[in-house]
Amino acid sequence: MTERTLSIIKPDATRRNLTGKINSMLEGAGLRIVAQRRLSLTGVQAEKFYEVHRDRPFFGELCEFMTSGPVVVQVLEGNGAIALNRRVMGATNPADAEPGTIRRELAISLTENSVHGSDGPETAAIEISFFFAEVDIPG
Ligand code: CMP
Repeated sequence: MTERTLSIIKPDATRRNLTGKINSMLEGAGLRIVAQRRLSLTGVQAEKFYEVHRDRPFFGELCEFMTSGPVVVQVLEGNGAIALNRRVMGATNPADAEPGTIRRELAISLTENSVHGSDGPETAAIEISFFFAEVDIPG
């Protein structure tokens, strides 16, 4: 089934000039980048985007990191795109991620883990609409 998911290339990766390398890994896995934009998140946007984690001990550090530099937000499309993207990203903690995954090969730490990907269809719809109107997704 063709699906869409939201991906974010995080500040640790844009800082190290890894946008193209990550896009190449996503495309190499069969995901299509059907919309993409580089921007700086405000504190308010970061707190809203990660609202479900508001009560977790890492929330402050997470929001501080996500506003520390530009991010690239993108809509990925493909067959089973949500699960496929999560496979390509690897485990949240790069130390636990499989070899060949983005986080294992490129990420620095649990916080500076280079990429975000939606974790299910409902989250994907909410997260995509956080950054993109339907007209901004040319396909
Ligand atoms: P992400 O997929 O963007 O979703 C929430 C982020 O919180 C996660 O990636 C991690 O970068 C970050 N994070 C920091 N500490 C933790 C933790 N202990 N458990 C889970 N996520 C964490």
